[in-house]
Amino acid sequence: MLVLGIETSCDETAAAVVKDGKKVFSSVVSSSSDFHRRYGGVVPEIACRRQSDLIDLVTGSALAQAKAKLDDVGLVAVTAGPGLVGALLVGISFAKTLSFCRGLPLVGVNHLEAHLYANFLDRRGPEFPFVGLLVSGGHTALVLVKDFDDYRLLGSTLDDAGGEAFDKVAKLMGLGYPGGPEIDRLGAKGDRERIKFPRSYLEEDSLDFSFSGIKTAVLNYLQKHPLRGKGKGAAAADVAAGFQEAVVDVLVDKAALACRKNGVRRLAAGGGVSVNSRLRQRLKERAGKEGLRLYFPLPGYCLDNGAMVAGRGYWEYRRRGQDDFYLTAVPNLEIGRGSVVK
Ligand code: KG4
Ligand code: ZN
Repeated sequence: MLVLGIETSCDETAAAVVKDGKKVFSSVVSSSSDFHRRYGGVVPEIACRRQSDLIDLVTGSALAQAKAKLDDVGLVAVTAGPGLVGALLVGISFAKTLSFCRGLPLVGVNHLEAHLYANFLDRRGPEFPFVGLLVSGGHTALVLVKDFDDYRLLGSTLDDAGGEAFDKVAKLMGLGYPGGPEIDRLGAKGDRERIKFPRSYLEEDSLDFSFSGIKTAVLNYLQKHPLRGKGKGAAAADVAAGFQEAVVDVLVDKAALACRKNGVRRLAAGGGVSVNSRLRQRLKERAGKEGLRLYFPLPGYCLDNGAMVAGRGYWEYRRRGQDDFYLTAVPNLEIGRGSVVK
């Protein structure tokens, strides 16, 4: 079955055509990040307007690149949450319209579950059970995934998400938005040991995260040691490397702890921060030491995309059938809740 996946939860407008939840025929992503850059973060109103400008074009391109017509599509899957309510509603309204006009079944998808599902796109993916480490711009979570419809939240962030910490620290350093890729690049040139930023582990054995303290620590450091120029010299590289190392330490330690505590030997990452080169390297090292099998989505499916929504939607549909037209945006949807709050 060909599934059309639509993703509009934040600043990416994305659509994809995926066969049987696995094989990606096309994946088109258009980001409005250029329009947010001057504000240093996503402006919801701008994101929402760009979604409605682009959704039709992006969906048309996804179908054309897959050499498919709407008549070939068997299901429309759309992100129902979490995300920005206005942005989500654009995708949901568009998907409902397609569903109604073409008589196609419609299914809502949980964006966070879709990020972990990305591990199964164009590759075999982990067997169940596995621990999912999800790190994106809005969320950080550890999840025990026992089956396609059995996700148990083990821990999540109490304040800033991992990607949010990267974005905020990049802003403090005068780097561009989104900050993750900038810090990744700059940090690779810096000394990871020179500046020791705090690692927040919370209580012993806790699988929750907190990243707001490290952001304040970087702010305090920068007030005492202002960066010259555009924040891209050697001193800035050390700040980026030191900050990145502190975040990565906590993510890697807690992911390994989650596997140990649950007796699980498979770990799968997902979300925008899972493309981070230092995180990938450190997870590989730790997985080698602890005998864990490690999985990442292909790089094109780590950041927001429609393929993960189509893939996840295929399984939602197989397991629980279609949604009705009461499907709506759920801005604070949690992982493990599927696409609707009952
Ligand atoms: O999953 P995603 O596309 O959107 C959300 O669902 O939030 O993740 C976007 C986040 C942003 O915070 C961005 O800075 C971060 O992923 N990111 C990175 C890298 N590339 C993107 N963080 C660290 N290193 C990267 N290379
Ligand atoms: Zn995302």
